[in-house]
Amino acid sequence: MSKILIAIDGYSSCGKSTVAKALAASLGYAYIDSGAMYRCVTLFALRKGAIKDHSFLHDEIIKLLPEVKLHFEFNPHSKSSDTYLNGENVEKEIRQMIVSENVSKISTIHEVRVQMIAIQRELGKNKGIVMDGRDIGTNVFPDAELKLFMTADSDIRTQRRYDELSAKGQHVSFNEIKQNLLDRDYQDTHRKENPLIKANDAIVLDNSELTREEQLKFILKLIRDLTISVN
Ligand code: DC
Repeated sequence: MSKILIAIDGYSSCGKSTVAKALAASLGYAYIDSGAMYRCVTLFALRKGAIKDHSFLHDEIIKLLPEVKLHFEFNPHSKSSDTYLNGENVEKEIRQMIVSENVSKISTIHEVRVQMIAIQRELGKNKGIVMDGRDIGTNVFPDAELKLFMTADSDIRTQRRYDELSAKGQHVSFNEIKQNLLDRDYQDTHRKENPLIKANDAIVLDNSELTREEQLKFILKLIRDLTISVN
């Protein structure tokens, strides 16, 4: 079967990137983390002082955009792509709480979305990619051959995020993480431009009780069925 586009959208920390990476590896596709791009803009704005105490210098942020150059590079140790901001590997920094606390607001800025979406479409133009985010199936690639909408119980999502941050040596309380997830879900589903909603043709995957292997099996079966219906 010729290469397809796979769009995975869903709530914060519901394991989109874990399943997307495994899926990309098993298909020999590239994995693109679109959330990492919005996180890079947020990190850059924080570093440049355009976000202070959760208030945003909207015009400053827009002026900074031409300076934001993003790319992804495969990391043979982690076997996945690392995110680079102006040539610097920022994979770890963009996952910090300070970035998580500000990224949803940054992603509501029209000019930010226009720039990120243009990069995402360019990356997907030859297909053969798995991209995760919030508006991939609804807006970035409305014609993607396979669309998944992922969700999971909020306590399970919080625990996963807590374990992930602890493993990286970042100690944040369970409640703080949970509040951040719920706040981001609210902002991402209620923003005006490209909010997180399930595309009509997306398949829901609630992975609260599923292992990584079970999720992968479920998706690979969908792809097999797709192949049969296309050929
Ligand atoms: O996937 P993530 O949690 O790293 O994404 C961080 C934020 O970026 C998320 O809260 C909303 C925004 N985002 C977006 O608006 N559109 C996307 N396609 C991906 C992420």
